[in-house]
Amino acid sequence: MRRALFPGSFDPLTNGHLDIIRRSSPLFDEIIIAVLNNPEKRPMFSVDERCEIIREILPSVHSNGCALTVDSFSGLTADFARQRGATAIIRGIRAIGDYEYELRMSLMNRRLQPEIDTVFLTAAEEYSFVSSTLMKQVFELGGRVDGLVPEAIISKMREKLADQGAGR
Ligand code: PNS
Repeated sequence: MRRALFPGSFDPLTNGHLDIIRRSSPLFDEIIIAVLNNPEKRPMFSVDERCEIIREILPSVHSNGCALTVDSFSGLTADFARQRGATAIIRGIRAIGDYEYELRMSLMNRRLQPEIDTVFLTAAEEYSFVSSTLMKQVFELGGRVDGLVPEAIISKMREKLADQGAGR
């Protein structure tokens, strides 16, 4: 059983994430999309909302028979990967700017759990500038993010913004 962990904040999931999931699926029997519960950040969506959203979207991914599951975690990614029996951590690299941070993370994760390796996939060109942070910022300022974030998630972002507006 080749099991991998794809960890991230996923606030929200973008088409760039979906592309990485789809392209890594032939390499594994199961990919656990692991949503980090980071109390230091003020996210747009709660961890439970993010997990629910991802679960709704995943059936649309052509996963080549690879099981796609969703879970949340707190603490160290390397420990959670080990706990869940994963032998690989998947990360996407968009541009050279990502490389240094990702390299440091992968080396630290390997030091923490030597039997777990990080598998890097380069982002598809059309998503190489896409990040959750940029998508939220553009959307909140009235810009369009269609084609970059799944339609169903854009609707949820719209609802979130309307709720926040009502609460102000
Ligand atoms: O989607 P992101 O924000 O780029 O994901 C970053 C993430 C969640 C992979 C990273 O912050 C992480 O692994 N955090 C968990 C805490 C941890 O393990 N830190 C040490 C990493 S070497």
